[in-house]
Amino acid sequence: MKKLIPLVAVALMGVAATSCGDSTPTGGDFGKPLIFYNRQPTLADNSVDKSVMNWSDLTFYGGFDAVAGGDTQGQMVVDYIKEHAAEMDRNGDGTIGYVLAIGQNSHNDSSARTIGVRKALGTGDTADDTAQSKIGSIKANDGETYQIKELAAQEMRDSAGPWSSSVAGTAMAGWINQYGNQIDLVVSNNDGMAEGMIAQYGQGVVIPTFGYDANASTLDLILEGGSMKGTISQNHHAQVLTVLQLLRNYFDGETGEGMYTKGFTTPDKAGNQIKSAKVAYNADTKALLAENGIVTIDNAQSVKDDVLDSGVTKTTKDTVKHKILWTVYSSTDNFLNQTYIPTVERYLDKFNYDITWVKGDGTQETSVTNYFTNLNNYEAYVVNMVEPTNGALYQDLLANA
Ligand code: BGC
Repeated sequence: MKKLIPLVAVALMGVAATSCGDSTPTGGDFGKPLIFYNRQPTLADNSVDKSVMNWSDLTFYGGFDAVAGGDTQGQMVVDYIKEHAAEMDRNGDGTIGYVLAIGQNSHNDSSARTIGVRKALGTGDTADDTAQSKIGSIKANDGETYQIKELAAQEMRDSAGPWSSSVAGTAMAGWINQYGNQIDLVVSNNDGMAEGMIAQYGQGVVIPTFGYDANASTLDLILEGGSMKGTISQNHHAQVLTVLQLLRNYFDGETGEGMYTKGFTTPDKAGNQIKSAKVAYNADTKALLAENGIVTIDNAQSVKDDVLDSGVTKTTKDTVKHKILWTVYSSTDNFLNQTYIPTVERYLDKFNYDITWVKGDGTQETSVTNYFTNLNNYEAYVVNMVEPTNGALYQDLLANA
């Protein structure tokens, strides 16, 4: 791992150098769509990088509402504690102790979840990857008040990248040794890490565990009725369709408002309109954001059914197969490879796109940018950066193509 650091440093210096060049066009003169998805271009403090978003009229972000998602995850956990506190308190000390798996410090989805959960539990309001010392409290539905204590928190990253399920498993094994039955609750920034942790609990041990993403394997665990009690759906159908629709609007000749209203708030030229979840446009960040939803044993089966969006059933009349270059930061990320990308494939026959996929190694931007080439062969670009601060790097590559 250590050996890689100089290489990473060199790569990042390259990024800084190229993104400061005066080659970057401004104000819509690039002329082809550049759609970021899943990893919103951000600055080092995880706020949206508006200069990247304002690079051209056809630059957009298609994702989901990260902040509302973190709040929703926090609410789901609090609701569960209120209902089940007495049975959760494994050592009967009146305190619900929890451990927190953090996905990626430099990813605003991850920090929003960490903050949302801590705020709801009263243990803090920051995204630090160290345990918070503030003690929260929740009055349960049975009238008893329980203290809430964060025992440990850690970013789960290894040489294959962040959001690591296996690192989460190793961390959980250590925490079980250290804290034993003080651990009454496990919260994870995503499902893959939650699954890695559950695998360590031991036969018959139930520790209520909450993830994020609603991956099929996690929905199965929820339906089995063991430790996995809930997750959040980021409404992957609506999110995937957001990207496909933005591209479609461009190919249909839409401009200005038409880009983010057609297929969203009004039907597009084919008569399609996303219905599976609400998608809101944020003009300030040029982001189309799907809403999130709580998933528990009550609705896990209907989420697992994974039906196609009932509003998007018509095939475009445009018969040209449009060539798209589409990047994925990691070939092993569980949400993207288990849930998101297969969903893209399920809608392709409606949109008529010819996608060239580039999948990275999860750690080095060059594992993607080395294949972000022959750019003039494509009509549009869909980008998932390895590091969310690297949006301008892709724009420089496009500008110089
Ligand atoms: C998902 C994570 C995933 C990450 C990848 C997040 O929105 O919840 O599971 O690892 O995106 O960028």
